[in-house]
Amino acid sequence: MPDSLPATSPTSPTSRVTRAVQFRSSLDRPLFDEVAGFVGAMDKLKIRGGTRLAGEITVSGAKNAALPILAASLLTADEFIVDNVPQLQDVATALKLLKLMGVSVERDGATVRLKADALTKTEAPYELVKTMRASILVLGPLMARTGSARVSLPGGCAIGARPVDQHIKGLEALGATVRIENGFVVAEAKRLRGARIATDMVTVTGTENLMMAAVLADGETILENAAREPEVVDLAAALNAMGARIRGAGTDCIAIEGVERLHGARHRVMADRIETGTFLSAVVAAGGHAALRGAAAGTLHAVLDKLREAGAQIDAQNGALRIRMDSRPRAVSLRTAPYPDFPTDMQAQFMALNCVADGVGAITETIFENRFMHVHELQRLGANITIDGNTATVRGVGKLAGAPVMATDLRASASLVVAALAAEGETTVDRIYHLDRGYEAMEKKLAALGADVQRIK
Ligand code: EPZ
Repeated sequence: MPDSLPATSPTSPTSRVTRAVQFRSSLDRPLFDEVAGFVGAMDKLKIRGGTRLAGEITVSGAKNAALPILAASLLTADEFIVDNVPQLQDVATALKLLKLMGVSVERDGATVRLKADALTKTEAPYELVKTMRASILVLGPLMARTGSARVSLPGGCAIGARPVDQHIKGLEALGATVRIENGFVVAEAKRLRGARIATDMVTVTGTENLMMAAVLADGETILENAAREPEVVDLAAALNAMGARIRGAGTDCIAIEGVERLHGARHRVMADRIETGTFLSAVVAAGGHAALRGAAAGTLHAVLDKLREAGAQIDAQNGALRIRMDSRPRAVSLRTAPYPDFPTDMQAQFMALNCVADGVGAITETIFENRFMHVHELQRLGANITIDGNTATVRGVGKLAGAPVMATDLRASASLVVAALAAEGETTVDRIYHLDRGYEAMEKKLAALGADVQRIK
């Protein structure tokens, strides 16, 4: 069970236990065990650092594009085929949730065939939502397709409270009545009608949920202050392939002209830019060179600029990103912000890089209120980091020393792996189910780059 469960969970422990028992009885056992087992795996990674990296890997499909695109299958009764879907725990959870609602799901490697022609439920239960907050992405498509949805509030997580008030505000603007009832978002609407919606802040899944809600609405919807992330653009491309009429994805103003229905389509998920950035940071921290096949340089300019500032040589040639780092990195300062600025999902990895860099780097996190959980673990490896509000100041040290550390959230675990690769000696990273949520076969890819890494069951 993820230990990052919030103290603010909507139900008291006892009722949560009874609900879990009820939930288990409502599911065929393998499903429950599979999710619980998968999530509960207490595997560790053992990394012997200090050696330079060298090799070639292929970047997987983007988790944060695949999750909304898989949810879009709810919008049509026709078969929807998605290629380049990464093998991740979060994707497994998303597919279980869709199956639970009656979507037929067939997976063949990286291709998933979905058909939502006989939905049996329009509910996303707490037991699944609490293991993956992105489950909230079924809310918009369910409202568009069926006019009703009961989705558990995701609750907070390790990196912050992460409310969904903007998702709800947008649905109400589209004509839905929404109420919160024992920890669930309960939404009803005869038919959604187009509206002009301006979210209070840039929200990625908020933009995606409202875009999916609007595709079948009556009339045109304008999303202002929309997220410009490449994953939003990828979702819009998939929806347009299904017959939606979306213009402006990638800008802060997206226009969606409602249509009667969507038809089937086939869509290939974009490459994961955060996985790409994570491996690039590892090469800069540990030194060496690598080729990342399938990486999309155009979705990572802010990250590539910072890696070059740290001293890396990077170039994009025939569909791969090549990086070389021959010297000790120079410290860089950065400030996270919505796309196209520096992504918050790369903040922890750059903190690890700064730990071994020459100089002092200031890292300011502006998106989430508690995304410095990796700092205490990095300090166990000998890092010199001080936190003042939402800015961490990192003074690079000559060498980190391996030690046992514990992952607390997805990108924090990635930053511990980056630091462990640069550290002298052995590091064990515990609770890597966090890592398995967002990185496909991380230890295999690291081994392909020459790292000394072992997964310990
Ligand atoms: C998406 O989360 C990503 N997840 C996150 O990646 C990523 O860190 C985040 O966007 C920011 O880029 C997926 O795409 C599945 P937000 P999301 O809504 O959509 C506040 C990873 O590591 N907010 O853009 O949940 C919110 O609290 C994950 O792969 C509200 O206040 O993030 C945050 O401070 C971690 N009310 C800020 O806005 C709302 O209704 C941005 O959040 C919605 C958001």
